[in-house]
Amino acid sequence: MRQWPADLPPFLWGAATSSHQVEGGNHNDWTQWEEAGRLQGRVPSGEACDHYHRFEKDFQLFRQIGINAYRLSVEWSRIEPAPGQFSAPALAHYQRVIESCRAQGMEPVLTLHHFTLPIWFASRGGFLNPDAPALFERFVRRVVEALGDEVRFYVTINEPMIYAVMSYGLGTWPPGHKRLTEVWKLLPRLLASHQRAYRAIKESQPGAWVGLAHHMVAFEPYDPRSRLDQADSKVLHYLFNRRFIQQTDSTQDFIGLNYYSRQYTRHPHFLTPVPAKPGAQVTDMGWEVYPEGMEMLLRDLKGFAKPILVTENGIAADDTRRVQFIADHVRAVSRAQAEGAIVRGYFYWSALDNFEWAEGYRPRFGLIAVDYRTQERTLRPSADFYRRIIAANRNLWPVSALPAPVPPASGL
Ligand code: FCB
Repeated sequence: MRQWPADLPPFLWGAATSSHQVEGGNHNDWTQWEEAGRLQGRVPSGEACDHYHRFEKDFQLFRQIGINAYRLSVEWSRIEPAPGQFSAPALAHYQRVIESCRAQGMEPVLTLHHFTLPIWFASRGGFLNPDAPALFERFVRRVVEALGDEVRFYVTINEPMIYAVMSYGLGTWPPGHKRLTEVWKLLPRLLASHQRAYRAIKESQPGAWVGLAHHMVAFEPYDPRSRLDQADSKVLHYLFNRRFIQQTDSTQDFIGLNYYSRQYTRHPHFLTPVPAKPGAQVTDMGWEVYPEGMEMLLRDLKGFAKPILVTENGIAADDTRRVQFIADHVRAVSRAQAEGAIVRGYFYWSALDNFEWAEGYRPRFGLIAVDYRTQERTLRPSADFYRRIIAANRNLWPVSALPAPVPPASGL
């Protein structure tokens, strides 16, 4: 297993965002989708959190929480607005962002593709296009050239399986296709795109840590005694959770895990799990809170013998539940570490309230509340709770110290 660098904190305590969800003022396949009225009455992303202009102030707030790492993404449509034409101002912008992130003592973890595409790329069929891997590689090379060794951690593609299913299987996200055959065509292209990006990054920055952020769901049989439900869970665990990780085993230096929830498999609805049992307490996204699922998946990832980063984990709900959620999931990390999983980081989703794709602005995931009318930011009590967890674990590995008691609720 590759040695964790001695000059890094033993555990990355972070928070995450993505360009389209926080920057504002984008012009990509998502803005086209939003402008075409595909959000079912929800407000388009528009100015979002205006993080594009307010990143420095935001970083000061993040530092108040004490995070030592920040996961963000670069917006391809800004960097390469037309095929082969790279925007020097956009690259310079991200250089400033990374510089400022480092100046605030946060290790940047940079995602290269987080769901959005330049319009020119989308109109050529996006990642379905046989040329996509080469085009993605060209973009990645430019980014890595511009950022040099300022970025040590790269996530090439965020949640390939979710992207494939939402955009090409269920049609909820652009381009809105509902064709299973396209999902199967897309996945090998995403794989090739990742592999080419991996090699390009390592060629230019051999010391970089490159991986993907894999969305994993804790699949469990609806009826624990049903053989069919059990079998369906196993099939989904392989197809949705593990297959892409296995295929990228030789081209990832760490495993990124995005974990949110459990889902139940229930015959006769094969491969179409249900999110919760009747009466279960769910979040504002309708997702069940199930920290044990994260522990189970982290244990499952042990076999890959690689450092693991929890690249996303979070909740849209009132802040009291957020505090509990963080406490329970950090405990799950700690238990998984005790069982041998080399978990090296935890990134709460999200640093800020933001644009939650097809759900628009209603769900609030942030440690920091955003008033979208005034762009005013307010740290929630959960941010203070997270701060205390981080302070109690400074320079500790594995994670062990959990502060108590949980702070009181607030209306934020
Ligand atoms: C993940 C996405 C992220 C965010 C969270 C809630 O699937 O990667 O952008 O929307 O869900």
